[in-house]
Amino acid sequence: MDPLIELAREALSNEMFSSMIYNRLASPYHSGSLRLKSIKIAEVEKEHAKFWSEFLKRRGYRMFPEGVNKVKLSLYLIIFRILGLGLTLRMLEMNERDAIELYSRMLESSELSKHERKELIKILEDELIHEDEFLREESKLEDFLAHVKDAVLNMNDGLVEILSVTTGLARAYGNPLM
Ligand SMILES: [Fe+2]
Repeated sequence: MDPLIELAREALSNEMFSSMIYNRLASPYHSGSLRLKSIKIAEVEKEHAKFWSEFLKRRGYRMFPEGVNKVKLSLYLIIFRILGLGLTLRMLEMNERDAIELYSRMLESSELSKHERKELIKILEDELIHEDEFLREESKLEDFLAHVKDAVLNMNDGLVEILSVTTGLARAYGNPLM
C-alpha cells in the first residue's frame, strides 16, 4: 500500500480514537475546566477524523473496517479507572505528541494538494494546542495532589498531637480499665 495512504489510515484511526477517549473524559464525573476542554477537544478531533476520511475517499479508499483500536481504548479506560486522571493525562499528552510527529512527517510528502497541506498545518496547530492544554491540566493536578499531600501530613500531625495529649491524660489519671 502507498505509504501516504497507510499514514492517513493510521491518522484516521488515531483521530477517531482521540475523539472517543476525550468524550469519555468529558463524562459527568469530571467537572470544571477539564470537562469543558475535553468536550471541545473531542469535537476538534472529530473534525480531524473527517478530514482524513475525506482524504482517503478522494484517493478511492472507503472507511476501513477495523476503525478504532478497541484494545487501546479499553486499556486507556482501565488505566483511567484504576490509576486515575494523572496518568491518563500523561498518556493523552503522549498521544498528541505522536500525532504531531506523524503529521510533521506527512507534511513532507509531495503527494498532498495545496489545500490538504494547508488543512494539515491547521490540524498540526490544533494538536500542539491540545498537548499544551494537557500539560497545563497535569500541572494543575500536581498542585492539587500537593495540597492533598499537605492536608494528609497536617492531619497526621494533628493526630499525633491528639494521641500524645490522650496518652498524657491517661498517664495522669490512670487507666480506667485497670
Ligand atoms: Fe487530532
